[in-house]
Amino acid sequence: MLRTHTCGELNIKNVGQKVKLCGWVHSIRDHGNLKFIDLRDRYGVTQIVCSPMEVNEEVWEKLKEIKNEYVISLEGIVVKRPEETVNKKISTGEIEVKLVSFEILNYCKSLPFDVGSNEKISETLRLKYRYLDMRRESFQRNLIKRSDFVFAVREFLKDNNFVEIETPILTKSTPEGARDFIVPSRLNPGKFYALPQSPQLFKQILMIGGFDRYYQIAKCFRDEDLRADRQPEFTQIDIEMSFIDENDIISLVENLLKYSIEKTFEIKVDIPFRRIKYEEAIDKYGTDTPDLRMNVEFMDLTEIFKKSGVMILKEIIDKGGKIKGFFVKDGEKISLKDIEEYNDFVKNSGGNGIGWIKFKGEEIQSPFKKYLKEDILNDIRELPYYSPKGILFFLGGEKEWVTITLKNLIDKMKNKLIEENKFSFVWIVDFPLFEYNEEEQRIQSVHHPFTSPREEDIELLDKEPLKVKARAYDIVLNGIEIGGGSIRINKRNLQEKIFKIIGLNENIYLQRFGFLLESLEYGAPPHGGIAIGLDRLVMILLGEETIRETIAFPKTQKGVCLLTDAPNEVEEQLLKENRIKIDIQKDL
Ligand code: AMO
Repeated sequence: MLRTHTCGELNIKNVGQKVKLCGWVHSIRDHGNLKFIDLRDRYGVTQIVCSPMEVNEEVWEKLKEIKNEYVISLEGIVVKRPEETVNKKISTGEIEVKLVSFEILNYCKSLPFDVGSNEKISETLRLKYRYLDMRRESFQRNLIKRSDFVFAVREFLKDNNFVEIETPILTKSTPEGARDFIVPSRLNPGKFYALPQSPQLFKQILMIGGFDRYYQIAKCFRDEDLRADRQPEFTQIDIEMSFIDENDIISLVENLLKYSIEKTFEIKVDIPFRRIKYEEAIDKYGTDTPDLRMNVEFMDLTEIFKKSGVMILKEIIDKGGKIKGFFVKDGEKISLKDIEEYNDFVKNSGGNGIGWIKFKGEEIQSPFKKYLKEDILNDIRELPYYSPKGILFFLGGEKEWVTITLKNLIDKMKNKLIEENKFSFVWIVDFPLFEYNEEEQRIQSVHHPFTSPREEDIELLDKEPLKVKARAYDIVLNGIEIGGGSIRINKRNLQEKIFKIIGLNENIYLQRFGFLLESLEYGAPPHGGIAIGLDRLVMILLGEETIRETIAFPKTQKGVCLLTDAPNEVEEQLLKENRIKIDIQKDL
């Protein structure tokens, strides 16, 4: 046995025991006649103490060879630390191990960064030397939390009768709005597999196959522009159920998240989560991913300001524009300098500036003060979210521009409005089924084309498809979409109709989705599901800024793995066997 204990295990109860430890040399402190080594593994750090009086000369000499991050194994005796050196912050802080002998298991080159330091290290270095980065406690903690969380998810789903089933990675295109990654098939020259953008079609097929509760911790691949919360390769908690409606899935997910988050993190999750209709979300928050931690809602103030004598506003209203605004509850947080900055921001967004009224009990402060008669102020005081110490911000113009600009403005104010360590879940429901893609001049699905329209809207499909609502729901946490799903179409003719509406002709949809259409004719049960972005959810729960902090081996913004240097050129022979010729043109 190389070790009897881990480096996080020994405590006062072990005093007097002879132990063997293995690990990495975290730090060495040399006090001349006394050397201290902090030995580290993923369980913790144990202090090793060595004195020339206690070890033989050979061991004392060999100690000089050791450097940070060397891998060593050692034998020693657990002793109580002198009172003044007890470290209450770590589990092993009351003891140290008196060195008897040790062996160097492996050396370590001069380090590109200090593994023990808490300082910010360039991400390029961290990704290139990911194995060193992983030795750091903060990153290790993230991966361990992720693993614990996934374990709790599996536990909950298993207890609720779900079956975990793997679906193929070499497969056919599953459209989720991104480009496919493709893999050539040597055995079928000229043909390609696509990596799954999601297991969507397979999970539907599993329902038709009679598995009425499926889940998978599924790897998905999407060739799209990368951002802080997007990777080309990411993981979903993918779920599908039969004989259910929207409420069943929503309730299942709420219970799943409550169970697995509370079990893994020190976070309390109150269910049920709020539900907001898509249109209301756009109107009140300017987005379908509202961050409800901000406690800010946009209101239509057109009627109120119609009565004011402010020319600028009157002109806007006369031209059919709208005045919208929102309260910030605690006006103290916002200084005149901040307001100036917001004003410039609105000017840069094509407006004249931002209107504002700061309330101080009965008193007000505002650039429009002289126009704000008592009756207008009284109306404003009646509004929801009014507070005697608040500020009302308002903006006039074309309705959509106003909403988007206000949304961008509250994003700028975010850190003044958000309560720290709060987790605010919300469901967005009643999405439109389709949207119009101006660039390509065609109708496309808002989610994916397998989403069922609402029963009562089916008759609108032919004449007014853009008015049709979907049986879809997204889940948003702190302003980030963490999941989405829907009730699916389970009838062939309706599915074909949707394909046609999004511009796929029969030849194309039969070639791409013929297998699905056929399966729908063999007793497809009513079914629906959801997928939750695991990396994103864990990122938010850990308070991290990017999903790269929750993924062991992520890619850079350009889709490169700095550790392995993938993607890379392949040997000529491999290209030949796959009947592939490279022809790189500057512009496509
Ligand atoms: P959707 O496309 O909304 O739905 O994906 C579900 C969730 O996956 C996460 N996600 C991503 N995370 C990291 N990097 C990416 N590139 C990325 N893309 C998506 C998001 C998102 O909410 N098949 C449907 C689900 C269903 O209908 O059941 C689907 O994949 O958190």
